[in-house]
Amino acid sequence: MGFTMGLNLLLLVAMVATNILSLYHLSSTTLHSPTSPNPTLPPVPDHLLRQLNSIRATIYQLTRLQHTPSGANPASKTTSTKHTIPPDLLLYSRLSPIASSCNNHPELLHKYMSYTPFSLCPLDFDLAEALILRGCHPLPRRRCFSRTPQKRTSLLPQNPFSSSLPSSNVVWDKYSCKSFDCLNRLNPNLGFDLAREITKFISYKSELDLPILQLMQIAKAAKSVIRLGLDIGGGTGTFAARMKEYNVTVMTTTMNVAAPYSEAVALRGLVPLHVPMQQRLPLFDGVVDIVRCGHAVNRWIPVTMMEFLLYDVDRVLREGGYLWLDQFFSKGVDLEEVYGPLIGKLGYKKVKWATANKMDISGLKNGEVYLTALLQKPVSR
Ligand SMILES: *[C@@H]1O[C@H](CO)[C@@H](O)[C@H](O)[C@H]1NC(C)=O
Repeated sequence: MGFTMGLNLLLLVAMVATNILSLYHLSSTTLHSPTSPNPTLPPVPDHLLRQLNSIRATIYQLTRLQHTPSGANPASKTTSTKHTIPPDLLLYSRLSPIASSCNNHPELLHKYMSYTPFSLCPLDFDLAEALILRGCHPLPRRRCFSRTPQKRTSLLPQNPFSSSLPSSNVVWDKYSCKSFDCLNRLNPNLGFDLAREITKFISYKSELDLPILQLMQIAKAAKSVIRLGLDIGGGTGTFAARMKEYNVTVMTTTMNVAAPYSEAVALRGLVPLHVPMQQRLPLFDGVVDIVRCGHAVNRWIPVTMMEFLLYDVDRVLREGGYLWLDQFFSKGVDLEEVYGPLIGKLGYKKVKWATANKMDISGLKNGEVYLTALLQKPVSR
């Protein structure tokens, strides 16, 4: 199954690539050819048109079939009806949508695209995130000005652990809280209380902890330089803040779920990447030295998506780079039967592997365990 899906995707990609190349050659010859006295463009050759049409038809079919998983589409007059789309491709394209998924949410999309060009954008980042979370990314809206805070301060802290974050630099309209203080009162564990954040990644209280000093020593002993990292679902960026002290640049993926996480990361002078977990990471292959998965990566992510995530992490990690699962939690039995084998398939070296029972109410009720693992990607495949 996986093989046929791969083959189909490969064919599609190859087809698109060939066509883009042909079009490129065609357009460059028409643009640069001094021998052509006629300024009107020569007609596009039939075979190119036919190929383009069949690409369109394939993409159209993929999008249509997402709505009707049975694959029944007798009315289709497209040229590609003879291609049957393998069902696993459909499953994966739904789990990890392939670019076309804006079409699947016409109401949201229509709302999002109802705006007045060249004026202020509507205040609707929640709508934008709803679309992003459904796989509609990049977002199509382009021609309006994003909102800025009314009275922003220019006194921004250099230190990512400064005593407080300037609330005036956030547009709060869509939140019930109107300041970082309010968020801290609501729940001091959200990550906006920097006095609390400064204590993180420092001490070793249990086997599940990996203080950054120790992490850096492990890397140094292995002659593995850490300069660039990624923190997946990294909240307000405290891992990045701590790593900055070691002159390591860490990017933090964030979504503004119920609070302005992206703004907070940026106000700390750190890099927020606005991407959901189910999306391909916006980084090239083999470019980062370390990837950390924090609390946001846990058993609530569907296993298939978790597998996608791990393989995408593998893609962006350089050889010899580290994957740090920081207090990943799941049911004990699933760690043994599902997640352990899944992680094992990566073939990484287990530098650290510590588990412990999760002792809070839901942990006790569901037989949950924590796993903290530091894994090193093999130097060669
Ligand atoms: C980080 O870089 C600064 C400036 O180059 C240097 O003074 C400092 O010692 C470095 N810190 C670490 C932990 O390497």
